[in-house]
Amino acid sequence: MEKDLYILGIESSCDETAASIVKNGHEIVSNVVASQIESHKRFGGVVPEIASRHHVEQITIVIEEALQQANMKPEDLDAVCVTEGPGLVGALLIGVNAAKAFAFANDLPLVGVHHIAGHIYANALIQPMEFPLLALVVSGGHTELVLMEADGHFKLIGETRDDAAGEAYDKVARVLNIPYPGGPKIDQLAQESDAAVDFPRVWLEHDSYDFSFSGLKSAVINYKHNADQRSEKINPMHVAKGFQDSVVEVLTAKTLRAAREFKVKQVIAAGGVSANRGLRTSLEKTFKKEGIPFYVPPLKLCTDNAAMIAAAGSSMFKAGKRSDMALNGRPGKELISWND
Ligand code: KG4
Ligand code: ZN
Repeated sequence: MEKDLYILGIESSCDETAASIVKNGHEIVSNVVASQIESHKRFGGVVPEIASRHHVEQITIVIEEALQQANMKPEDLDAVCVTEGPGLVGALLIGVNAAKAFAFANDLPLVGVHHIAGHIYANALIQPMEFPLLALVVSGGHTELVLMEADGHFKLIGETRDDAAGEAYDKVARVLNIPYPGGPKIDQLAQESDAAVDFPRVWLEHDSYDFSFSGLKSAVINYKHNADQRSEKINPMHVAKGFQDSVVEVLTAKTLRAAREFKVKQVIAAGGVSANRGLRTSLEKTFKKEGIPFYVPPLKLCTDNAAMIAAAGSSMFKAGKRSDMALNGRPGKELISWND
């Protein structure tokens, strides 16, 4: 029988400080997330300097708590995996340095993990991944369609040419005077609305899997300006639903077309925006009809957490990937396959 594998994951790329222990790449033993949302709210977005300060204060506490909740000691662990990038450089550095210190002090192997690989592997915590697999990654910084022909193998088939989906949500929220992060609130307003403003759908070239959300964002801003100039009030619910309908329709249609073209066995959604109820419902319905299994993690594993980093890191560790003490925060890190 193979020995159980216990991995400590650490995540600090944006505004959550998180640590988690995952067993055998798919079983959460402990999962601790310290969110900073309250501190960033009054600025309308994440302030990098404030994020770094919070991470410094929280990082050792969340690591200790992850061990405590798991009832484990450092010597029970097999490796430490940490988000290397992409993300805010100052924020990444706190997690990376904590991971390096922890690995050095406890003589453990260290593995640097790509944040988006983490979001994708959040799904491995729910059910075994089957390949070829198509992942729709939608977060505050990313909107991508990633094809996985095998475990640890990634092919980027489409990405946003401007704003990420979550970024568009947060910017539109600001126009509607909704505090950061606006995504969940717009989602709620859209669910409750009985009508929608008709905003454009941006398809780009007919065969492209790329996305563009800046035109839609501008359409919402113009709609608000025009109303302001006429001293008219807009209905935020109708705007929220109009915006969300456009985002969801384009994301769903492109994901479906790619799933068909690449004849995938599984479709998954990942990243903060995959917490969106409108998007989840649309993808669930579409792929049920299409007969392709579709999965999305529960809400708390959609947004940033360290269990997903430990899950991706477990696959990398098993593939023999190791980082050394020169590991650094890499804000622009690209998603590279660790298996051929
Ligand atoms: O993955 P994530 O936690 O952080 C990044 O890696 O970016 O994603 C955060 C993004 C934010 O833009 C937030 O507004 C959005 O996810 N988000 C949502 C929802 N929940 C979070 N967007 C739309 N609907 C939601 N329910
Ligand atoms: Zn994220």
